[in-house]
Amino acid sequence: MSETPAARAAKLSHLRRRKLKKGDPVPLPLTMAAMFNLPGDPRGFAQYGRFDNPTWDGVEEMLSYLEDAPAVAFPSGMAAISAVFFSLLKSGDRVLLPSDGYYTTRVLAERFLKPMGISFDLRATGAYRDGGFDGYRLVFLETPANPGLDICDIAAASAAAHAAGAIVVADNTTMTPYGQRPLDLGADIVVSADTKAPNGHSDVLFGHVASRDEAAIAAVKEWRKLSGAIPGPFEAWLVHRGLETLEVRFDRMCSSAETIARRLKHHPKVKALRFPGLEGDPSHNLARVQMQRFGFLIGLTLESEEAAESFIQGCALIQPATSFGGVHTSAERRARWGDAVAPGFVRLSVGCEPVEELWAAIEEALL
Ligand SMILES: Cc1ncc(COP(=O)(O)O)c(C=O)c1O
Repeated sequence: MSETPAARAAKLSHLRRRKLKKGDPVPLPLTMAAMFNLPGDPRGFAQYGRFDNPTWDGVEEMLSYLEDAPAVAFPSGMAAISAVFFSLLKSGDRVLLPSDGYYTTRVLAERFLKPMGISFDLRATGAYRDGGFDGYRLVFLETPANPGLDICDIAAASAAAHAAGAIVVADNTTMTPYGQRPLDLGADIVVSADTKAPNGHSDVLFGHVASRDEAAIAAVKEWRKLSGAIPGPFEAWLVHRGLETLEVRFDRMCSSAETIARRLKHHPKVKALRFPGLEGDPSHNLARVQMQRFGFLIGLTLESEEAAESFIQGCALIQPATSFGGVHTSAERRARWGDAVAPGFVRLSVGCEPVEELWAAIEEALL
């Protein structure tokens, strides 16, 4: 039985304390090391910088605690997703991917899985269970999907996929372990781009894989060691620091997003709005059941590409940028990357600015 988010958050900053000896530094030391002192029998010791690093251990301990499952750190979200694909799939396998999720996952499958004899199909997140899961080795969920914010029922999809013999991987990037707990809902593996809210300061790329399946964790760990897709110790140290404040940032971001989404919904310049926390949103009923919070991403559609660009570039408290989850509010038009959304669709990532200041700036930019 997993703890409440509040209980988990309260204990998180004190995890290290249990291991401290008198005189040890309280904060996690940054260990930059390719070599370790290793005379004689190497077993049971840190051996080499591609195999082990004490700063990775520190951030993985926090991620494991947050996920309630062993976690393995990677240098980016895509490195985490790649580790799952390349360590668990083999020629002849079939994979199901969301047609409306983060596009790079699909490009990776097209460019590298397909030539290896691993086929894939695409399905819209809002109808993910339609058609069943027969014949799939791996079912990949992304919910809420980035950028459209449709969601799928993790528990029902996991049960159906398991009955069909598939493993279920959930990309939880848009929610973090404080907002949604796919492993508790039945997914086998969680992947996340900790580049986003977990690090939270837009200065690092990072990712992790978490699973209660020992064989899956062993496989992704071996993949990391052999492929060399390892995180830098400094990046791990920064993510460790970011995780210490994730709960307070995420709480502020989600609360502000709810306030702003409610106001945007009635704004005359907003032609359409997606936010799972709004009654009437197609995602709302399911979101209430499976998500702890409704997230900090809002999808709003303005009249045209020009209207969207002038909103994004004209708002004093919106950073025009790709990516999301930083302390600063940011936004972009996803059509510029080819996502299947309207030209005026803006993905708004609500940050940690005081909400009334942020709303005033948004309202002014929409005039
Ligand atoms: C849902 C989702 N998954 C994975 C990734 C990839 O993360 P990274 O850029 O750290 O490789 C992203 C990046 O935007 C994302 O939005």
